[in-house]
Formats: sequence, C-alpha cells, structure tokens
Amino acid sequence: MAPEFDLEPPPRVVDGSLLVAVVVLLATGITSLVSGRPSGGWVFDVHAVAGLATVVLLAWKLRRVRHRISPGALDATRAMSVLLGVVTTGALATGVWWVFGGRLDLGPWGLLNLHIGLGLVVPVLLAVHLRQRFALPRRETVADRRNALRYGAVLGAGALAWRAQETTSRVLDTAGADRRFTGSREDGSDAGNDFPVTSWVADDPDPVDVDAWTLDVTGHVDTSLSLSAAALPVGEGESETAISRGDRDPASVEAAGKRALLDCTSGWYSEHDWGGIRVGDLLDAAAPDEDAAWVQFQSVTGYRWSLPLGEARDALLATRVDGDPLSHGHGAPMRLVAPGRRGFQWVKWVEEVRVTRRRGLGELVAVFVSGLDG
Ligand code: HEM
Repeated sequence: MAPEFDLEPPPRVVDGSLLVAVVVLLATGITSLVSGRPSGGWVFDVHAVAGLATVVLLAWKLRRVRHRISPGALDATRAMSVLLGVVTTGALATGVWWVFGGRLDLGPWGLLNLHIGLGLVVPVLLAVHLRQRFALPRRETVADRRNALRYGAVLGAGALAWRAQETTSRVLDTAGADRRFTGSREDGSDAGNDFPVTSWVADDPDPVDVDAWTLDVTGHVDTSLSLSAAALPVGEGESETAISRGDRDPASVEAAGKRALLDCTSGWYSEHDWGGIRVGDLLDAAAPDEDAAWVQFQSVTGYRWSLPLGEARDALLATRVDGDPLSHGHGAPMRLVAPGRRGFQWVKWVEEVRVTRRRGLGELVAVFVSGLDG
C-alpha cells in the first residue's frame, strides 16, 4: 500500500516558507501603499493569497512548537518567538477581519491602520527571531517533488480561500463586499467636504491665513509666479484670470474642473467633482525650461510630493469640492488632485509648485516628519 502523503511539509520547509511569505507580504503591502491604479490591482491579490496561505503555514508552525512555548518553558528567546507569533496572528486576523467588513475606532486610526502597523512590526520581530534561530532547509528538501506539491497545495488553498471569502462577503453582503481593488470602502462621495479628514502621519496645521497666502511657482521655469488667493479663479462664473509675469505679457489661467476619486491608504475612498486650476495651465504661464522633469507640490507644513512633469500637467490644484469651497481639513485654500495616486500624495495646504530636474528625495522623509514639530 502506497505510503500516506502528509500535506504538512518538514519543519524547516514550513519555517523557510513563512520567511518567504512575510517577505512577499511586506513587499506587496508596501507597494500597495503607492498602488492606486487598477493596473496595480494584482499587488493586492498577491497580498491576499500570500496572507491566507500564511494562515495555514502559521497554524502548522504553532501546532509544532506549542509545547515549547508553555509558560513554564519560556526564556527570552522563546518569549520573543511568542511575541512574533502573537503579532503575526494579529496582522493576519486584522487583514481578514478588514476584508469581511470589520471596523475599529482607534481615534485618528482605524482597523486597516492597525493591520498595517502590525504588518510593519512583523518583519522587525522576525529578524530578531531569525538571528536567534535561523536554519535554512537543505537544498534537496526544498527541491523534493513532494514539497513542491505541498507548496502548490498551500498556495492553492490560499487562492481558494481568497475566492471563497469574496463570494461569501458578497452573499452575506458584508461591509467588505463593496471594497475597491485597493481594499478601500466608499465614504462621502459627492457630499462636498463631508468625507473623512485624514493625514498620512501628523500633519495638522492651523488654518491658513488666505489673505497672506500665495501660491508660488518656482524652480526650472522661465518666469517664477506668485499668485494670491484673490488672483485665482475660485468661484462659479469666474472663468479665467490674468497672471502678471513681470516684463512678460500676462498669462491667463482658466477655472477648471475634474471628477476624481481620492483613495486613502487608511481604507476609504471618495469620488468628487473638484474645481480649481489645471497644473498644466499654471506651468504654461511659468514656462518650464528644457531641464524640467518633475513638479513638486509643497504644503505649508513642509509635507511635499513630486509628480513627473507630464502627469503633473493633468493634475488639478483644487480650491473647491462639489461646488463648495474646500474646508481647512481637506487642505484649504488649495490641495492637489492627482487621479490614480493614493491619498497621501494629494498634497494639502499647497503653497508652492516647484519645477525640478530631479525628484527631491527629501520628500520621502518629509512625509513622515512634517507636522511632528508641533
Ligand atoms: C506594509 C505592510 C502591509 C500593508 C500596507 C498591508 C495592507 C493590506 C491591505 C490594504 C489589505 C486589504 C486588502 C483587501 O481588502 O482586499 C490587507 C489584507 C491582508 N493582509 Fe496586509 N498589509 C501589510 C502587511 C501584512 C503582513 C506582514 C501580513 C501577515 C503577516 C499581512 C496579512 C494580510 C492578510 C491575511 C490580509 C487579508 C487577505 C484577505 O483575506 O483577502 N499583511 N493588507
């Protein structure tokens, strides 16, 4: 009689697979933060399948080590392993709970923020754990045909669970059923300013003094511009306004509108008709020089983000939403509307548009520290 085929791979293969799974989850997780276009939807699918496959792997692992982590047997190394197990289980559980429509009110944060927070702690704890207990499976074990079958089975189970949960969510009509491909749920579309006010990290400036505020266009341009709020076509019927350009003829910028969907990484999305000026019209008035390649949008808080010149031209600097003036929380007097970009790239409280030759990488730090200086 043929020997029984045990689906559970050898211990080191389970451990190695967990390492690979966490690397895939972290990579797809971080990439998901900048994936706002449907063409990037596969990132979320891979994340979901890897996440569900990890549930199976972790269950095998915990069943194997359960006797070693009893309270009496705990030393510092094992305590670290237990903490890793708890945080990983937390990351998995909050991810699945989110998919099924879970909600958690943690003040400025919600369930998906908790998931992402736990998800970022897992690799740190895993690195400590691996320093204490790293052991690679032997090559022949990994290459073993039976283990290849087992990997396929684990991934297959993850994909099946993923499909099954989407169907279950739809049949049960859970709050998770209408998620966008990004996992975000609709909130406050077409309701003017009545949609969630969130900041990437800590940006929370005082209301901007509109009379003192100007929008400056600087950097690799033939003519730097400085526009006051009064100079901008902000109201209905104000179709265009003239922009003085020193000794050059004044340029005119028309009021423009754009319907666009704002998708925040904290798990909500909202679609609106935004009103303001096209960045392309502003750039035409300033005339970027031949070295211009990027456009950086800077907030009064120091928060900033760049778009490639071509993409920036189609973006909008909004002063109105669904016909209403933007509220302070949504970035008054002016915020960036960058279709296809995740919400944290839609810079709020914009005061400068800087045309650059290269992307200012300092912004990758600024988005985390702006607003922390109180
Ligand atoms: C930077 C870190 C991470 C980010 C940004 C992130 C983001 C997300 C998002 C947006 C979802 C919801 C997808 C949807 O609604 O379809 C999700 C689901 C999930 N994530 Fe993460 N995640 C991260 C790290 C992790 C880690 C480290 C783990 C596991 C250890 C994990 C496991 C899961 C699981 C199991 C799901 C549910 C998948 C499903 O049921 O379809 N995530 N994650």
